[in-house]
Amino acid sequence: MLKSLLELFNKHPNSIHETYWQHAKYAMSMAIRLLWTGLNLACHAVFPFLRMSYARDQVLDIADTLLERNPTSVSISTSIFNDISETIHHTPMIRLQNFSSEPYVNVYAKCEMFLPSLSTKDRIVIGIIRELERSGELKKGGTIIEASSGNTGCAVAMLAACFGYRAIISVPAKTSIEKISMMKAYGATVIISPPDASKSSPEHYVNKAKLIKDETPNSVLLNQYENPVNPNIHYQHTAAEIWGALNGNIDCVIVCSSSGGTISGIGRYLKEKKSTIEIVMPDPVGSIYHDYFNNKREDQSCYRPYKIEGIGKDYICGNIDFSVIDNVVQVTDEDAFNSAKYLAREEGILAGGSSGAALYVANVYAKKFQEKKQKANIVVVLPDSGFKYLSTFYNANE
Ligand SMILES: Cc1ncc(COP(=O)(O)O)c(C=O)c1O
Repeated sequence: MLKSLLELFNKHPNSIHETYWQHAKYAMSMAIRLLWTGLNLACHAVFPFLRMSYARDQVLDIADTLLERNPTSVSISTSIFNDISETIHHTPMIRLQNFSSEPYVNVYAKCEMFLPSLSTKDRIVIGIIRELERSGELKKGGTIIEASSGNTGCAVAMLAACFGYRAIISVPAKTSIEKISMMKAYGATVIISPPDASKSSPEHYVNKAKLIKDETPNSVLLNQYENPVNPNIHYQHTAAEIWGALNGNIDCVIVCSSSGGTISGIGRYLKEKKSTIEIVMPDPVGSIYHDYFNNKREDQSCYRPYKIEGIGKDYICGNIDFSVIDNVVQVTDEDAFNSAKYLAREEGILAGGSSGAALYVANVYAKKFQEKKQKANIVVVLPDSGFKYLSTFYNANE
């Protein structure tokens, strides 16, 4: 309400006193920021356990509106940052011309490849690192260990370099050479699991990370698969950004899953705001999530290898909350890769294979709405950059 009023003011400045008006708005914006900082410090002194980061975003949005700045993009375009970690969050939402169909369906892409290590995982890794530093578990000179299909590993490697930690990343055999090279470029040690290591084997990349943690002094395991900070970060940031970009005019959101952090955080936030929003999860053919969703049983024998990196699983992760998911749709490697290639060629957005899977499903839903002549806004989350797969499915010789 207050924000809309301020936006109205911004649209109709008093032309005679325009300069004074600009100065006044600047002063008001600074006053809001100062007041908020004072209030925050006072609250923290009295209730050190109180978390006010979400409310902080709302207050700073109001201050930004006064200055006629777009709250979700201002920091990237005009600010100076103290280090690369400060550029995390606030990714663009782009309306996809070739997936939308006038006058009924709009498809909007939340482009997470704009984050500094080129994937959505920067968001959760900065969140978990800050939490471990606050709790005292991650100490100066410590080592961060994580199991990752590659993207979390890249985010860990980047932030470890930025903050002066060591990083050891355990990855599955199918991880692309680009992701491995990127982690190494940031100075991380990368351990690659054998291709046939099943979930019960100590060589499985998730088990391997736990073993390395036990053997490494002064180390922490981020544990994205079970750490509640993971979905909470997506609840506080990714979901709030999506909701804000479309002013809540959302009917359906397509989000891929591995740890389940993205879909669980986004799903919880959006369902709390508007329970009719449909949350849909694409799942690679071969992953066991689809079977779990339909039959409510964890049957690891359903697992079959597939090529799409970073999504689906051979077991059920602790962070996936099926109560906020309305549908799980299976996608083949071919459909996912073709959709990603189409996006690159027709829209100029280079995204990964999981983005392709999400786009494939977005298209299925777009057609359904179109056939029913039902107006709909579909959001599709594109988790990472296609730059990480130039040697795999984007390679013409593959
Ligand atoms: C390429 C890619 N897409 C999607 C995801 C799914 O994200 P989440 O772990 O939040 O479920 C991941 C996770 O590793 C990923 O690497």
